Amino acid sequence: MELGKIGATESGGVNRQALTGLDSQARKLVMAWAVTLGAEPRMDAIGNLFLRFPGTNSELAPISTGSHLDTQPGGGMFDGIYGVLAGLEVLEALAASDRRLPCALDLVIWLNEEGSRFSPATMGSGVYAGLLDLEDTLLLTDGDGVVLGDALEMMKSTLGNLEHENSPSIYDAYFEAHIEQGPVLEASHTQIGAVSGIQGLRQYEVIVSGQSAHAGTTPRSRRQDALVSAMSLINDITAAIDDSEDLVRFTVGRFEVHPGSPNTVPSKVIFNIDLRHPDDDRLEEIEKIIVQCTGRVKTCRADLQCLIRSPVTHFDEGLVRLIESAAKALEFSVKTLPSGATHDASSMARLCPTVMIFVPCRDGVSHHESEWAEPEHLWAGACVLADAIEARANETDL
Ligand code: GLV
Ligand code: MN
Ligand code: MN
Repeated sequence: MELGKIGATESGGVNRQALTGLDSQARKLVMAWAVTLGAEPRMDAIGNLFLRFPGTNSELAPISTGSHLDTQPGGGMFDGIYGVLAGLEVLEALAASDRRLPCALDLVIWLNEEGSRFSPATMGSGVYAGLLDLEDTLLLTDGDGVVLGDALEMMKSTLGNLEHENSPSIYDAYFEAHIEQGPVLEASHTQIGAVSGIQGLRQYEVIVSGQSAHAGTTPRSRRQDALVSAMSLINDITAAIDDSEDLVRFTVGRFEVHPGSPNTVPSKVIFNIDLRHPDDDRLEEIEKIIVQCTGRVKTCRADLQCLIRSPVTHFDEGLVRLIESAAKALEFSVKTLPSGATHDASSMARLCPTVMIFVPCRDGVSHHESEWAEPEHLWAGACVLADAIEARANETDL
């Protein structure tokens, strides 16, 4: 609730875009809480924040857990934030009981998971896992032309002089708690989701370039209207995708029209496609359709760039079973399910055994200001996270 005040919207949601002053403020607050518990903060070159709680044996590979503090423009209080705070609860429980795990535990706050201000999504973890190039990423700009590297420098100066994390740690495992963002757990009255994996995701940017002209004097036959071309391109793609099973997730969620004047024919349209499916082959087929349709755009020029190509993620089977058994030992109902949303865990799964824990959210609603999760569900997820981390740490110690 305290974090939810930072960037609170009038309708009860949160708008806390990555690398804004609000993002820094939220990070500062969580960092202060973790430091009070005995964690040591470090930050890497892309702005991921690591809060390390020491273990008893520094020879052992650390375990990590975390998520993100940035939100969608009309987002809620829980998406991402819960995973960070559930991890903080684990640190707090350890500190309160004066216990140390054998290995260190890193609470990680990934930079820009949402990708709404600077695209693509899962940026910090993507750079960390080597899926995105650091130098290219630092040069990206937001809708107002702000360069990511400059915004990052500003955040770094706000957070103060933190020790620099030079290269990715070799983690023994990564755990991420998250609200489900879908209806399955709530509908089946299940308290805990043991997440088996994440569907594949591809994000593209399309730039349609035409020519601006006077809206009153230019006959249709003489126009190169970027908006008309962009609309027919989107229609062509959706018509060409056969989706009888209703599994294809095709979204155009950002659409910019330039110069954006009522009496000028649009010269340029920039839009993003977010495409998801549980089968990589199907994603490949649909990408071919998108490429073909883009190549067939008439009158204007259309350029397509793939920003992120994240394959279907399968989480570590042993860790999925560990979540199930930790939940059962605490007498919580548990169900194994895949994730429709993407998460930083998809990047981490390329580096080390990874798993996620889901808790129900009201009506399955997320990326919406009304997003809500019940305290008892959030508590249950944090208990499972703590027990699973402890069990894993003790296994590693053997
Ligand atoms: C993360 O918010 C996603 O895009 O699934
Ligand atoms: Mn999230
Ligand atoms: Mn999200």
